[in-house]
Amino acid sequence: MCGIIGCFSKEGCYEKLMAGLARLEYRGYDSAGVALLSPDGALAVRKKKGGVAGLAGAPLPGDTGIGHTRWATHGKPSDANAHPHVAGKFALVHNGIVENYARLRAELAAAGETFVSETDSEVIVRLIARLYGGDFFAAVSAACARLEGSYAVAVLCSDFPGQIICAKQKSPLVAGASGGDLYVCSDIPALAGAAEYVCPAEDGEFIRIAAGRVVFCDGQGKEIPKVFTRLTAASRAETGGGSFMEREIAAVPRALADTLASLRASDFAPCARAMRAARRVFAVACGTAFHAALAFKDAVERDAGVPVLCHPSSEFRYRDPLVGPGDLVVAVSQSGETADTLEAARLAKSRGAYLLSVTNVECSTLAALADHNVAMRAGAEIAVAATKSYNCQLLCLYYLAAQLTFFRCTRWPAWFSSLDALAPAARAAFDSFSAVRALAERLRGAGGMYFIGRGQDVRTAAEGALKVKEIAYLFAEGCAAGELKHGTLALVEEGFPVLAVATSRRLAQKCENALAEAKARGAYAALFSQYEDVLSESCADFTCRLPAVTEALMPVVAVIPLQYFACSMCLLRGYDPDKPRNLAKSVTVE
Ligand code: M6R
Repeated sequence: MCGIIGCFSKEGCYEKLMAGLARLEYRGYDSAGVALLSPDGALAVRKKKGGVAGLAGAPLPGDTGIGHTRWATHGKPSDANAHPHVAGKFALVHNGIVENYARLRAELAAAGETFVSETDSEVIVRLIARLYGGDFFAAVSAACARLEGSYAVAVLCSDFPGQIICAKQKSPLVAGASGGDLYVCSDIPALAGAAEYVCPAEDGEFIRIAAGRVVFCDGQGKEIPKVFTRLTAASRAETGGGSFMEREIAAVPRALADTLASLRASDFAPCARAMRAARRVFAVACGTAFHAALAFKDAVERDAGVPVLCHPSSEFRYRDPLVGPGDLVVAVSQSGETADTLEAARLAKSRGAYLLSVTNVECSTLAALADHNVAMRAGAEIAVAATKSYNCQLLCLYYLAAQLTFFRCTRWPAWFSSLDALAPAARAAFDSFSAVRALAERLRGAGGMYFIGRGQDVRTAAEGALKVKEIAYLFAEGCAAGELKHGTLALVEEGFPVLAVATSRRLAQKCENALAEAKARGAYAALFSQYEDVLSESCADFTCRLPAVTEALMPVVAVIPLQYFACSMCLLRGYDPDKPRNLAKSVTVE
């Protein structure tokens, strides 16, 4: 959702900026650009429609620079709409949405400003230039005071070589340092390998890079003391061959083992009271994380006997939800920066609920906002399609469900002692990959497909369908097997693929019946189950044996062949699994 970066380095500033931009690209790839400022005050800008690779050319001179990867909101992807935007002595990169931009644009145009882009971001730099009276920081601060909406900005001014002024409001921003090199950036993974120490900014704060120092300050320029923490290896992206998505699927067993170790070392006592006394339990999340939240609902309702109200974050605040003091709200987000989930979490907190977050980024905005954060240890996830983070979200949420069960019912769910089996089972799921790839080859030309399941498998079906839509650009729907005959079945004709997941022995026969009904109408039927007898007695055209763990934990494992299936479909159809069209990794705008 746009990535911004700033760098001060006496050596190789341009190269460091470009390397950072490449690491940031998963936040948007509609266009990219950089601006470099030399010690003599010369400003050089290069920006272009398309990805970071399109910026290649001779290095721009300068020791201070800013860069941007764009996910278009206002204005189509084009060279003119690419950042940095320039006005007079200033160059600016922006992530977020300026909600009052139309009013500001009209005001600036009436005052004689000529706009060269369609973006909301250009109004910020023109406002700064208008407000400038010789004090760089004061101009940025005064301009920001007039903005409504969300922003993380980094600004250069040719009167102030060696300086970058940044501001943050509702869009993520971190500072980083390594020796004499100083950075600001939209997120921590993009600083991995570059910065040794990092520190996130909070809303309303400014970051000033000047005189070889990085300093946090308030709107008046008063310094705010901060503690930088060492960047851990866990923030690094997965290395190896192939796409990030393939590497991240391959990392699932390691991610599960690390997450389990971290959960076991966590102290849940601080949230024991909230869990024990919760009047109601809510779960809010988006996309893949929402599917994990639904799995949490299944587990808590089954094991703790407490109803869980699950809402997509984007709907939560507009429904005027019945949330209030005494309620427990669980917000799930890989990035911890998803704008919709943050707003849902803020609403819950403002109404007096206890906020528990599950995130993969410990110093994210959501983790900071929460009363208690449960940290996944998936490691940096770069591919836009969430994979290893989903498996880890499920593990964290099941763990949480077990805590809730213990705090409320003074017993642990039976499956709680089987968690160690998850990482080996995830590894065993890789054995199915050659068969799953063959299935993808068989279905690569399909016009669409259904994923079906019953009970907890409905969540896995929904997640499988989301992956296929997101990266293979195929219509896919995940639905409850029993719902097929209530309308969905009408689309099934000769060869239409229906992929069923059956991990519950009790419900397997029912799921199979639905598959048989689809097959009777010509569907190409595929069945994923851990039960040999279920597979052998089924009428499916394709069967995949899943590794067995205790049934309650099967969603963590059953989704793996579906993740790989979507990735294979994507590659076979000639697309890039890491950068699906129209999407970005971190959705930091509403
Ligand atoms: O960072 P978050 O977990 O809050 O992201 C939520 C969704 O945007 C995300 O899961 C999205 O649905 C994935 N790209 C799906 O693969």
